[in-house]
Amino acid sequence: MTFSKEIFLNNLAPTSPNPYLISIEKAEGIYLYSPEGKRYIDLISGIGVSNIGHRHPHVVAAIKEQVDRHLHVMVYGEFIQSASNLLAKKLADLLPENLNCCYFVNSGTEANEGALKLAKRVTGRTEIVSCRKSYHGSTHGSLSVSGNEVKKMAFRPLLPDVKFIDFNVIPDLETITHHTACVIMETIQGDAGVRIPDKLYMKAVRQRCTETGTLLILDEIQCGMGRTGTLFAFQQYDIVPDILTIGKAFGGGLPIASFVSSYENMQSFTHNPMLGHITTFGGNPVCCASALATLEVMENENLLEQVESKGKLFETLLKHPSIIEIRRSGLLFAIDFNSADRVNRIVQNAKELGVICYSFLSHSNSFRIAPPLIITDAEIKESCEILLQAIDNA
Ligand SMILES: Cc1ncc(COP(=O)(O)O)c(C=O)c1O
Repeated sequence: MTFSKEIFLNNLAPTSPNPYLISIEKAEGIYLYSPEGKRYIDLISGIGVSNIGHRHPHVVAAIKEQVDRHLHVMVYGEFIQSASNLLAKKLADLLPENLNCCYFVNSGTEANEGALKLAKRVTGRTEIVSCRKSYHGSTHGSLSVSGNEVKKMAFRPLLPDVKFIDFNVIPDLETITHHTACVIMETIQGDAGVRIPDKLYMKAVRQRCTETGTLLILDEIQCGMGRTGTLFAFQQYDIVPDILTIGKAFGGGLPIASFVSSYENMQSFTHNPMLGHITTFGGNPVCCASALATLEVMENENLLEQVESKGKLFETLLKHPSIIEIRRSGLLFAIDFNSADRVNRIVQNAKELGVICYSFLSHSNSFRIAPPLIITDAEIKESCEILLQAIDNA
């Protein structure tokens, strides 16, 4: 084992000039442990991944069982494998009828890439409508439909035919026309700093898409998997998307994501051209076994029912004169302050005190909290005491 800072800084490609830089030897439940034995409370779930905590025993057992049978045996879509069969059936049972067919991929951005291609293929149209401040991933297609201009500038030209509208603004929906293949939006915008749309707005989006024959893609890669109190956030809006994208917490700690649509829509990848979307590792059996076990844990431990009361407890305890606003859906929070510098100092202070929180990609004045849903009330109280101390120190 090595936790060499030198190797980390020189041999692993960096993504920022100032990485978080703590070493992790072990993770369990809501806790991360450094090699020196320092304990951290993970209040961000590895950015929305460890919703059922780290190394849940049911998930670890399912992974071990699958590893003992087989690992990768064939590219996606050719061999019948029990792990992907069971997962696909479970998802179809949990989702509305028109979301009965899933295509497994390896990451959130890939799920969105597949969804965009599917929408073009099904509608025969090319125009895509997306929302300002959205984040859909870092590959070319997903970046093209993401709303943060600063992150896109250096990589142009990107996809043509993409139009942007303001999130949660009904008059902007006029932009969606009979030329639009799809609208892609996060049901709750995550990296914009937790932006929660009105029920009326989401209904209007659905209606406008239906009127114009446009497919509605809801990206629930961050806000799905119980984070907001229902398995998927769209279930609180009384609407159903044509394509749903999921990832992050879906795999319980292993990399798997999916775009989900109807059987009829998915047929379009089999002809004109055949093999219209392919992947080597999508539906990897170990990842599928881990994802199925994750869904089972969410059910068996009644995690969804506890999300709202735990979220409220955080909100009640996090009272501080320098907090400007808290935006929350379930256990997904953005906590606003008056400057990005202050936010950075709080995140650093919290780290020293043993609590991990983090900033957002497109909203520098707040930090995020998205703890594992298994966090107990006592652990919430301890976390909030530490956070308030970090806010005081900053
Ligand atoms: C809403 C949303 N969509 C897509 C992605 C991209 O997922 P990935 O990093 O797995 O490619 C993210 C990642 O943060 C996300 O929050």
